[in-house]
Amino acid sequence: MSKLILVTGGAGHVASHIIEELIKDADNKIISLDNYFNGSEANHFPGVDYRRGHTKDIDKLIPENPDLVFHLGEYARVSPSVHEPALVYDLNILGTFAVVEFCRQRKVKKLLYTASSTKFAIEGDGRQQTPYSFTKATNVDLINNYGRWYNLPYAICYFYNAFGPREKGTGPYSTLIARFQELYLQNKPLTVTKPGTQKRNFTYVKDLAKGAILVAQKGHGDGYTLANPHTYSIIEIAQAFGGPIEYINNDPGRRESNTGPDKARQELGWNTTLDVLDYIRDFVNTHPRK
Ligand SMILES: NC(=O)c1ccc[n+]([C@@H]2O[C@H](COP(=O)([O-])OP(=O)(O)OC[C@H]3O[C@@H](n4cnc5c(N)ncnc54)[C@H](O)[C@@H]3O)[C@@H](O)[C@H]2O)c1
Repeated sequence: MSKLILVTGGAGHVASHIIEELIKDADNKIISLDNYFNGSEANHFPGVDYRRGHTKDIDKLIPENPDLVFHLGEYARVSPSVHEPALVYDLNILGTFAVVEFCRQRKVKKLLYTASSTKFAIEGDGRQQTPYSFTKATNVDLINNYGRWYNLPYAICYFYNAFGPREKGTGPYSTLIARFQELYLQNKPLTVTKPGTQKRNFTYVKDLAKGAILVAQKGHGDGYTLANPHTYSIIEIAQAFGGPIEYINNDPGRRESNTGPDKARQELGWNTTLDVLDYIRDFVNTHPRK
């Protein structure tokens, strides 16, 4: 039976992989709603209905009644969020409230929200560390409460450090693995934020996309961690590229990562297929230093 699926942030990194996976089923009709604040038309796929706009205008921009909503269209970077709280509030709090209310009023069969693991850091105090963490954790509270107050059908998954194709390597919203690839290609030192021993669960973006779809199809409620079980320090990642390393200060709000509940693996059988060190090894082998 054909399904109408709305993906917010569909021109962004992880959501573009969700769309790439969803369009494999010809019965799925996909609409993306993205304001292109960090999205790119280069991430578009044929056959998808791409609409331009802020999620806070969702009611006007999406007259259809989708069966499923994947909500990824938010401000999505931890450290830069400290410098632009008003933008983060607008995109994440005002935008997400409108999305959640839309799902209630249109009787969407499932809302899938992609939460941030930053709130699990420092024994739960991580949610207070940056505007980004605060808004993401607040939205989890909001959605859990919509489940309680209105029986909203939802599932919440937690992504950990996405890496893989279409990741941005330059600009204020670039992410670490693609940034190191860029610096490596330019024969520049890899900039590691001190102390460099902080560990992260880098997770392959295609595994995250498949996990989010699995959670949307079979999950209920909060607590679906999607993380590679192996953690690596930033120094280990830089060394996998062959260095050299330049240490820098200034990365507000980042603390040791800490994984949340493991329902995705235990209940849904989700697993990862590619480790970041194998991905880097393959990249280095196919791009030998000149
Ligand atoms: N990448 C990760 O490691 C990671 C980790 C935890 C959670 N997440 C969450 O996953 C989602 C996607 O992350 P990503 O890394 O692909 O980010 P991204 O910036 O590549 O994608 C987000 C997309 O949403 C769009 N967008 C932002 N605010 C919007 C709004 N209010 N209305 C419409 N469009 C809007 C942007 O233009 C962009 O295309 C985000 O919600 C993020 O918080 C990502």
